[in-house]
Amino acid sequence: MSRTPIRFGIIGCGLMGREFASAVARWCHLLDSDAQPTIVAVCDPNAAAMAWFTDNFPSVQLASPDYQVLLASPEVDAVYCAVPHNLHERVYIGVLRAGKHLMAEKPFGIDLAAAERIVAESDRHPDLLVRCSSEFPFYPGAQRIARMIEENKFGRIIEVRAGFLHSSDLDPNKPINWKRQVATCGEYGCMGDLGMHVLHMPLRAGWIPRTVHPLLSKVVDQRPDGHGGWAPCETWDNAILSCRTEQGFPMILEMKRISPGDTNTWYIRVVGTENSAEFSTHRPRTLRSMPYSPGGTQAWQEEDLGYSSAYPTVTGGIFEFGFTDAILQMWAAYCDELVHREAMKGAFRCVTPDEALQAHKVLTMALA
Ligand SMILES: NC(=O)c1ccc[n+]([C@@H]2O[C@H](COP(=O)([O-])OP(=O)(O)OC[C@H]3O[C@@H](n4cnc5c(N)ncnc54)[C@H](O)[C@@H]3O)[C@@H](O)[C@H]2O)c1
Repeated sequence: MSRTPIRFGIIGCGLMGREFASAVARWCHLLDSDAQPTIVAVCDPNAAAMAWFTDNFPSVQLASPDYQVLLASPEVDAVYCAVPHNLHERVYIGVLRAGKHLMAEKPFGIDLAAAERIVAESDRHPDLLVRCSSEFPFYPGAQRIARMIEENKFGRIIEVRAGFLHSSDLDPNKPINWKRQVATCGEYGCMGDLGMHVLHMPLRAGWIPRTVHPLLSKVVDQRPDGHGGWAPCETWDNAILSCRTEQGFPMILEMKRISPGDTNTWYIRVVGTENSAEFSTHRPRTLRSMPYSPGGTQAWQEEDLGYSSAYPTVTGGIFEFGFTDAILQMWAAYCDELVHREAMKGAFRCVTPDEALQAHKVLTMALA
């Protein structure tokens, strides 16, 4: 099969930069992708971070601490930016002005004003594909719920709950990092880190919060600064947003860095008059659902979904799906859309700039 080459540059060679590169390295896993991404350039001021890429990817021709050098390269078609939030606006706008397609990271700017400027720049380049990363809706269980929403299977929606829960910050000895400081992470704190993941499916469904009542908490006040002292933790640790949607039903959104026992629990639960369904990465192969007709029984059922991915792969249908598979599927969707645009083969596209802006509006309402 002939595949359209897409030459990627990566700006920010940390945790997420490596996840993307690893997905590219196993692109052969996808059975019928029409795209063939390669990593040709990387950028990070930290030389050790770049070394992992140059050691593992012979395709990398350019490694620079200066992202302008990467953007000046005619060899780069598209850029994945995975940098701290205070750099989003500057770097994303630079990518677009250099005429490169952009896969951005959430929250898509450190605050609402930054997001508005990024979206305005994106609107000036309709030829470039701009999307924001959010991989959890690509789990088979989430995909099934997305399809049920699209096919109006729930009847009248009674309530929606969605959340993303972490727990490593429960350890008070975990050193401070950029995600705990306002200058680099933004006022949103945990909401900026986790909110886009929680809002992707609700916003795609058109469930826009009209009112937001927030419960925000700071649990750990200070952390080791890595130099023998202590540094203040400035950002919110946990958030519960109690919203009423434009459709009138309640929607509870949870974004927590300190949720004891939850390593990386993303979930969505939709309950309606004709159907209810829930999926959580805590039980990654299981979809729970409850069809209901008036006067009928009310019995939740469980289905093990196996590896029923949006984009077919070499993995057998009876096997399990996990985080790195969700990342691969998200990138398959981005590349599918880059090659085919409106005629993309998959049914679920990555977060659009308008959705990212809408997410900022929700989080800003919560702060206000
Ligand atoms: N989609 C997800 O599941 C997910 C998960 C974690 C983080 N993120 C997002 O990804 C982004 C990066 O987070 P991370 O966890 O990978 O952080 P990280 O700290 O692991 O990596 C960030 C990298 O950016 C580099 N960097 C700093 N300044 C730079 C500059 N001027 N030019 C180029 N590189 C620079 C740092 O040296 C570091 O290597 C953030 O927006 C974060 O919210 C997304």
